[in-house]
Amino acid sequence: MQPANEKTFAMTINGRRLTANDGESVLTVAKRAGIDIPTLCHHPAIEDFGSCRLCLVEVTKPEWKGWQGLMTACLYPAAKDLIVETQSERVRHVRRNVLDLLLARCPESQVIQQLASDYGVTRSSFTPRADADLCILCGLCVRVCESAVTAAIATLNRGRRREVGPPFGDVPPDCVGCTACAHVCPTGHIIFTEDKGVRTIWNKKFELLRCQKCHEPLLTVEQRDHLLKTRDLDVSYYELCPGCKRQRTAETFADVVLKTHPHFVPKQMGGSSGIPTVPFVQHKEVRP
Ligand code: SF4
Ligand code: FES
Repeated sequence: MQPANEKTFAMTINGRRLTANDGESVLTVAKRAGIDIPTLCHHPAIEDFGSCRLCLVEVTKPEWKGWQGLMTACLYPAAKDLIVETQSERVRHVRRNVLDLLLARCPESQVIQQLASDYGVTRSSFTPRADADLCILCGLCVRVCESAVTAAIATLNRGRRREVGPPFGDVPPDCVGCTACAHVCPTGHIIFTEDKGVRTIWNKKFELLRCQKCHEPLLTVEQRDHLLKTRDLDVSYYELCPGCKRQRTAETFADVVLKTHPHFVPKQMGGSSGIPTVPFVQHKEVRP
């Protein structure tokens, strides 16, 4: 593949010549090419942080005279003529060690168990953590809350007592019950429940608002109020779930089609043509 412009350049991953864009990480380029690099702390919606160390790859360049470094693919920037190996013996050896440690930290985590067994680790060579839970301390939950919601949770304590949760382990006053932390958690450590219109997360209860059309639980009152404060959208935007919004858009579109083409029969119902072109209406801007 030839570079299209000066912001686009060629690099090599596992012997494949690939095109990369300025500002992309090695992980992004690899993913686009369908090359698998295991990750735990990467989420496309959150800036990478490099905490799990699982995405380590070997990088070199022709001018480095044979020097090869181990770098995290999620943080290392793609560069012209970079040569990357994602499955070399050295890379697999280091990943095996990382997974050995993670398995000792979270022996019950199915995600870690599966990844570890992919690298031939079925039992950790380290002593499993006493009182082990499913948290690998990757920090994704804290960072999604900081960047997209209210920074209601944080990393607490130090050393062996390090954990994530609300300040002082109390019910978090700033939590709006959006569950973003639970959804980004790679190991399923953060649990929430929904029962009889009430969501519970971090020991805090939230009343759920329902979609005004299908009556499925939609979002919490606190979440809607937070979004009203931070996004420039009308309260009516939060009254329907995404499915009902799509349906309403489709119905509006069908109304327009039927008004402008009263004899239109959709193809699926035996009509001879597809969706007709809706006549273009020139709207004139009217200023007072
Ligand atoms: S709770 Fe989940 S997302 Fe948060 S630090 Fe632990 S493993 Fe990472
Ligand atoms: S995904 Fe790169 S360090 Fe975790």
